[in-house]
Amino acid sequence: MAGKHILVVDDNSASRVFLAKHLGEKQFAVSEAASGKEGLIAAWRDKPDLILFDPILPDITEQEFISKLRNDARTSQTPMIALSADPSPARRQTCLNAGANEYLVKSAGALPALEEILARIFAAEYPVDVLPKVEENKAEENKPEQAKPEEIKDPGKNGLLIVFLSAKGGTGTSSLCANLAMLIQQGQPETRLVVADLVLPIGSIGQIIGAEGKTNLVTVSDFPPAQTNADYFYKNLPKPWQFQLLAGSPDPQQANSIRGERIGQIVDTLCTAYDFVLLDIGRGLSRISLPLIQKADLILLVVSTDQSTVQLTKTVWDYLQAQGIDNRKIYAVLNRAVGLEGLTKTEAEGIIGLPIKTTMPYMGSNFALANNLNQPITIKYPTDTASIILKETATDMVKLARRLRG
Ligand SMILES: Nc1ncnc2c1ncn2[C@@H]1O[C@H](COP(=O)(O)OP(=O)(O)O)[C@@H](O)[C@H]1O
Ligand SMILES: [Mg+2]
Repeated sequence: MAGKHILVVDDNSASRVFLAKHLGEKQFAVSEAASGKEGLIAAWRDKPDLILFDPILPDITEQEFISKLRNDARTSQTPMIALSADPSPARRQTCLNAGANEYLVKSAGALPALEEILARIFAAEYPVDVLPKVEENKAEENKPEQAKPEEIKDPGKNGLLIVFLSAKGGTGTSSLCANLAMLIQQGQPETRLVVADLVLPIGSIGQIIGAEGKTNLVTVSDFPPAQTNADYFYKNLPKPWQFQLLAGSPDPQQANSIRGERIGQIVDTLCTAYDFVLLDIGRGLSRISLPLIQKADLILLVVSTDQSTVQLTKTVWDYLQAQGIDNRKIYAVLNRAVGLEGLTKTEAEGIIGLPIKTTMPYMGSNFALANNLNQPITIKYPTDTASIILKETATDMVKLARRLRG
């Protein structure tokens, strides 16, 4: 970390000098710019390792400042952290939509949060095994205890059904599904939430949350429907992250043996047994998944920022529209899963023809690291902008799904 070059862009000299001094004491090489235009020139000339900027600049909007840097090859991959006096979600979203990695609010807690983020961004360049082990133990403690299943035969719920869908693999669908599920459950601990991994031929949610056990989509579909009732799911589904998981098929060979109609029955049972049923469908738009999508209260459509995924998403959305899907049910999330470059939110909206509700910042290799350690993002990186966005998204999704139910 020492010796990394940070460019501080802030027109307020007191704040700029304070930051520069503080970062200098932490052994960073620091340079300063006092306006947006000066910042752009310095960024392109010196190619710093990171840009720390106040988004409220006298000569240029934050949108313009970030987009200009993102759209230039010299700075398209440079981590950008906004440090702002404005705590409004609107400004934070503007910055993230344009391509900033983090948005911190100037406050007493800002410096420690900044340090944590810098350590994380620069540590990401090193292999996993040199990272501090402390946090892992902390997360172990944070892991929820296995709840004792109750004896309820026929709860007769009418659970909210939320499907997670993407046009292409690798857009972060499973990662978002697991993390949002945990946050929805955490927000209402008194309810029952299940995630079913319907990505065929191999599911991945089990790997992300570290679920073990013999019960999965294949074994369940082998049982007669009468046996796989609410009680069966309460007792048999693992719960490593607060919610229960019906894991996907463990291998392609076994996936072949699943009968399509059983999936529909299983989902119906889950909806009577749980308050929330989240389905990871991945990019699996098919005869099996279409009826589930049609039945869903909310469709979380995960879009990454590369051209080809955005184009394919348009095709998927056109198809879903032709199948009578109500556009109010689509909750589109722009996830910068593939890097800092790519289309902006406005460009993606223009192509797909749907409003994008939120943008997830690019987390470098940290998202994969959290997944590999089987940890929720909000536990591993609690001060990250990604954690704030995930929490807001979880709350917003539930609100919208409930409202659409009427
Ligand atoms: N916002 C993000 N920033 C960085 N990496 C991400 C982000 N979202 C997802 N990823 C990573 O992208 C990879 C693919 O994610 P995954 O959830 O398996 O996608 P999908 O289910 O759509 O195939 C994983 O390694 C994941 O950690
Ligand atoms: Mg997946």
